[in-house]
Amino acid sequence: MQINQALKLSFLLPSVYAQLHGAAKTAGLLYFGTETESVSFGDAAYQAALKGNDDFGQITPGNSMKWDAIQPAPNTFTFTAGDAIADLAATNNQLLRCHNLVWHEQLPDWVSGGNWTAASLTQVLQNHITTEVTHYKGKCYAWDVVNEALNDNGTFGNDVFFNVLGSDYIKIAFQAAAAADPAAKLYYNDFGTEFPGVKSTAAQGIVKMLKDANIKIDGVGFQGHFTVGGTPSVATQVTNMEAFTALGVEVAITELDIRMTLPQTDAMLAQQKTDYQTTAAACLATKNCVGVTVWDFDDKYSWVPSTFPGTGSADIMTANVTKKPAYFGVLQAFTGTAANSTTTMPSMPNMTVTAPSLRASSSGASALDKPGMILGMLLSLIFAMFIVS
Ligand SMILES: *[C@@H]1O[C@H](CO)[C@@H](O)[C@H](O)[C@H]1NC(C)=O
Ligand SMILES: *[C@@H]1O[C@H](CO)[C@@H](O)[C@H](O)[C@H]1NC(C)=O
Ligand SMILES: *[C@@H]1O[C@H](CO)[C@@H](O)[C@H](O)[C@H]1NC(C)=O
Ligand SMILES: *[C@@H]1O[C@H](CO)[C@@H](O)[C@H](O)[C@H]1NC(C)=O
Ligand SMILES: *[C@@H]1O[C@H](CO)[C@@H](O)[C@H](O)[C@H]1NC(C)=O
Repeated sequence: MQINQALKLSFLLPSVYAQLHGAAKTAGLLYFGTETESVSFGDAAYQAALKGNDDFGQITPGNSMKWDAIQPAPNTFTFTAGDAIADLAATNNQLLRCHNLVWHEQLPDWVSGGNWTAASLTQVLQNHITTEVTHYKGKCYAWDVVNEALNDNGTFGNDVFFNVLGSDYIKIAFQAAAAADPAAKLYYNDFGTEFPGVKSTAAQGIVKMLKDANIKIDGVGFQGHFTVGGTPSVATQVTNMEAFTALGVEVAITELDIRMTLPQTDAMLAQQKTDYQTTAAACLATKNCVGVTVWDFDDKYSWVPSTFPGTGSADIMTANVTKKPAYFGVLQAFTGTAANSTTTMPSMPNMTVTAPSLRASSSGASALDKPGMILGMLLSLIFAMFIVS
């Protein structure tokens, strides 16, 4: 009786002892998190997955803290939508990555089309950043201060900020953010910088420019909008991230999703699992990589199908919140159940945490993979022997 019970329990163990955020923390990261937005607030299944099971210890608002949402007209600030995400993070006890202060997209016409002098645009930048960062002071683990300043060839993008102020706009932005919330980690965030190359080198140049000017920059975010089979290897990502941490900043994967050409196949889902595992493993292997954020966890809310027509299925769960192989790829990277790392023993489940997880995990149990199941069986056999003796 007792032995049967223990054996039965063992099959649930792999998904119980280590949900994504809990496993990330056990492995030494600060968080595993996700982008989210208020469009999902009425979706009970999504909200349960967002706050339950210890999968997501951090959230990032997808849109509601961007310039067009916060200051749609000169000196008209609207914080309602951003506040809703900040409140959700507080309610769920999740870290908040705040996103973003300066970006050439989702920027109102009154800014992008304005007839600015260097002095007038500096004033507008400082007012926007000071007002927004002050509003959220104490609530943001990190701010993406400047987003996507670079072209793919490593030159600065010709947006209104660069055209009027040159690269000084980046200094102005980081200075204003640092003054408004000295405790928030200040990040530069971009894509196409996840592997060595001219764009990554140029992003390192931004870090050096700020450090040389004694202006605070704490981190660099790598978005990680990858394609299945096109994800840089663990070694490539680690080498790249280490070039940044060597400059004295922390790093994070900030917007991970891995899209495929539709319709999806089992082979593509398997490759996607490898690719997610690769990226999570790269963060884990990089000293001072603090966490991984997915750009939503549920295909229902993915930006991919509308942005890259013909592609999709980019997230770690389906539109009905079913865990995909990619979910278990991330979990394997964090728990060390990958073929590579057979030495990491998971700790026994914390019973306080496992009680709700046990129920929630039943739908994902069939998707458990071999290494996890074998590990669970071994644990339970030891447990069973203990009971018998
Ligand atoms: C832009 O402002 C300058 C003075 O700052 C003025 O001379 C110029 O006519 C303005 N251009 C437009 C298109 O309004
Ligand atoms: C770099 O890319 C930008 C944007 O595509 C382009 O306008 C610019 O001419 C390129 N510069 C060089 C030196 O290739
Ligand atoms: C959820 O989605 C998966 C894959 O898309 C499908 O196999 C499963 O039947 C769905 N479950 C429900 C309850 O709709
Ligand atoms: C596993 O090890 C191989 C060979 O050492 C390496 O190429 C690969 O990147 C590793 N995978 C992970 C997930 O660490
Ligand atoms: C078990 O979980 C509870 C609730 O999350 C926590 O307070 C406690 O510190 C945990 N104990 C251990 C040993 O991890």
